[in-house]
Amino acid sequence: MCGIIGYVGRRTNAGVLVVEGLKRLEYRGYDSWGVACKTTDGIAIRKDIGKISAVDSLDFLKQSSLAMAHTRWATHGGVTQENAHPHVSCDGKIVVVLNGIIENYEALREELKTKGHTFVSTTDTEVIPHLIEEEMKTESDFAAAVRRACLRFEGRYGIVAMHADSPLLVAARTGSPLIVGVADDGYFIASDTPAFQDSTTTVQYLDDGEMVVTDGGSILFSDLQTGQERLKREIQITVSTVESQKGEYEHYMLKEIMEQKESIARAVNQDVDQIETLARAILEAQGTFLVGCGTAAKACMAAEYFFSVIAGHHVNFAPASEFKLYHRFLKPQSLLIAVSQSGETADTLEAMKIAKGKGAKVLAIVNAAGSTIAREADFTLHINAGPERAVASTKALTGQMAVLLLIAYAMIGKLPKGRTRLLETAAAINDMLNPRYTEFIEGIAEHIQESSDLYIIGKGWNYPMALESAIKIQEVSYVHAEGFAGGELKHGPIALIEKGTPCIALVGNDEVRTDIISNAIELKARGGFIIGISPVRHEVFDEWIKVPDVDTAQAIVNIIPVQVLAYFLAVKRGKDPDMPRNLAKSVTVK
Ligand code: F6R
Repeated sequence: MCGIIGYVGRRTNAGVLVVEGLKRLEYRGYDSWGVACKTTDGIAIRKDIGKISAVDSLDFLKQSSLAMAHTRWATHGGVTQENAHPHVSCDGKIVVVLNGIIENYEALREELKTKGHTFVSTTDTEVIPHLIEEEMKTESDFAAAVRRACLRFEGRYGIVAMHADSPLLVAARTGSPLIVGVADDGYFIASDTPAFQDSTTTVQYLDDGEMVVTDGGSILFSDLQTGQERLKREIQITVSTVESQKGEYEHYMLKEIMEQKESIARAVNQDVDQIETLARAILEAQGTFLVGCGTAAKACMAAEYFFSVIAGHHVNFAPASEFKLYHRFLKPQSLLIAVSQSGETADTLEAMKIAKGKGAKVLAIVNAAGSTIAREADFTLHINAGPERAVASTKALTGQMAVLLLIAYAMIGKLPKGRTRLLETAAAINDMLNPRYTEFIEGIAEHIQESSDLYIIGKGWNYPMALESAIKIQEVSYVHAEGFAGGELKHGPIALIEKGTPCIALVGNDEVRTDIISNAIELKARGGFIIGISPVRHEVFDEWIKVPDVDTAQAIVNIIPVQVLAYFLAVKRGKDPDMPRNLAKSVTVK
């Protein structure tokens, strides 16, 4: 969600460093930005609504060795210049940026107002500099005052703070990621590693309930509650600059869709012993629960079918945001499988906390190595999809499904068969995703681009893919799209179909083919324009997008043409598919 980057050290262009870092976090999605630089005259701040990339000159940044910057994704308070971060204390000396939510901000705000503080924004964040200012009336040490203030906050947050009279950059975390980048000439503190990856690939992770204080020469991690020092390892991260760039593509979304030619094969390349151990853990668990949000949740839903059809084993799916209500079913022998691209999603982390609170074990399936979910789980499998920059998740979904399908095969002692099935699928996707194929889908996008509504149906493991198709189309093209289980149509939604309404049918060459074709025929009888995504043609299809016939992996290939269609719908409708409005790449608030 919000992006944070701070720097303190020997370089004198700290302002430029943090703004450049902020631009590398743009993909996360935001609505306003701000930057603060400590100069010889105090702290200079500039903030605005809109995109930082639209600012043509950075001349406003003064010489500085201590600076921080922020991109805001509005939660509390509208998108206005006043609400953009950083926020400052009454004396203008304490400057703070936040990622997350201070849940008790209203009470704190009232308390601070009675003590004479004035507020200029409607955000929760603004209470932070004022509370630090209040604490400094009795605690002159800036870092100690930040700690005291943090102990009063409720909620999940990551904050970075600086003071006009102090050389320090101070940060604290409970729930929202903050990572220290260790450079030769100073330290970065950021919400995500791309922010500083041009300067360093050595990192130290700040964990929940910790704070960090640095003057650019030395650094001290400590427990937020006790103040006791915490020792941290330095970890080397690998950054592929090729993977982090758009290359020949106009947008990350298309690049990442095309990368599925390789990323699925990478996901399948897992340690055999580990997959077999985890498969046994699922079989032995007294209740396995799959959780994720949005697209990751659709991978979990698909896995319900994989485990049922392939392994004959029942598991439970819940959107992570609903998992709170499942705690009654959890035992120490239960297993939670948390699926996430970013590894930072607040609701998924909350579900993990609930499961751990009941003594259950947690398996994480993530893309982002070093993320909070990856570090907090008992076991972690990485899907190795490489950085996913477009807000709309594409290659992460198919990587997640590939790993879950592999586990399903391992549960019946047929891991090699699962591997072969998935590697054949990856090869078939490689053949499928050629320029003629994407041009054909572009033509369909051209044909339906003016439609205001779009419906998608599927059955079996194509049902979660119908739901996922709707998410993809909604989020990048802003066309109203809805996915249904094909059999549900006649219980209500079919009333929406008019002459020419585009309807996508996700079809496999499987036991439910006849049923879903019947549903497509029902749609056609009401005037629906039927786009069939299927290995086999059928006369009901007005347009047929052919996909390879890959048996149990059909859901993985069927979603890919929809990703391409969503992409072209966005482009044709003049939208930026990489940065959809109102959305963030990493949803770190509940
Ligand atoms: C949609 C999308 C989101 C994410 C969801 C979970 O394209 O990307 O629905 O899937 O926010 O994010 P992760 O996977 O990072 O936990």
